[in-house]
Amino acid sequence: MDKKITVQDILSLKNRRKLTMLTAYDYPIASLVDDAGIDIILVGDSLANVVLGLDSTTKVGMLEMLHHAKAVSRAVKQALLVIDMPYDSYQINPEEAVQNSRRLIEEGRGDAVKLEWFDKCIEVTRQVIKSGIPVMGHIGLTPQTADKIGGFKVQGRDAQAALRLLEQAKQLEEEGCFAIVLECVPDKIAGLITQRLRIPTIGIGAGVHCDGQVLVIHDMLGLFQRYRPKFVKRYADVSSVIREAIEEFKKEVLEEKFPAPEHTFTIKEEEFKKLKSDEKEG
Ligand code: KIV
Repeated sequence: MDKKITVQDILSLKNRRKLTMLTAYDYPIASLVDDAGIDIILVGDSLANVVLGLDSTTKVGMLEMLHHAKAVSRAVKQALLVIDMPYDSYQINPEEAVQNSRRLIEEGRGDAVKLEWFDKCIEVTRQVIKSGIPVMGHIGLTPQTADKIGGFKVQGRDAQAALRLLEQAKQLEEEGCFAIVLECVPDKIAGLITQRLRIPTIGIGAGVHCDGQVLVIHDMLGLFQRYRPKFVKRYADVSSVIREAIEEFKKEVLEEKFPAPEHTFTIKEEEFKKLKSDEKEG
């Protein structure tokens, strides 16, 4: 087995090779992602959309995140495990943020937490890192506060907005974040931020110049079909495979082809005869 990837490894890989990151929300998928040698597994709050069928990431809380993080952490042997801090678990005050991040590490068994940019993000990041918990930042399109940044839109498209993103990234680096997710940012801006930082950037809808790439696993497997953002590449069509299997099961049950002898348990003929005669006598 490969050795467990640490925050130090992630930092040291900048400018050496690209980093890979995927989300996972349960044991079987996390095992596959880990076995494939992906560097970072994220228990994302995208759980809300792609697993729980909710319409916003703001609708999952600590209990849901912990429930899924526990399942994922049982599978992860090698990847760095990052857990998203859910909406309202870190915005209220830094003390609550520290307590909640500790729960994600201790009960969820994560290696680090990720939190999205918001107006008091710096103080919260400072306190969580000071308490000994590694933090991954997240800037650009921040779904938890999408209503405050003009909706689900590409961010940093004019010079002023791009400069704001660069400043946010530098502040997060200054506070000690070990990596930053850049979501929905023009490729040149993501490239510039990547150049200006010593810590790795991980892009989603942020072009090829980032230090690494992340996708939501249900999107890249074609398992989530309600909508597909432009930045998603489908590497498989798992929905079709599942649909075909379910249709085949239904057909075989109706035609009495399943279960076949190899799926069936038997009893010795003499025991069955005895049962029938006992039944008659009784
Ligand atoms: O919740 C999530 O899946 C994320 C990724 C989009 C980075 O934050």
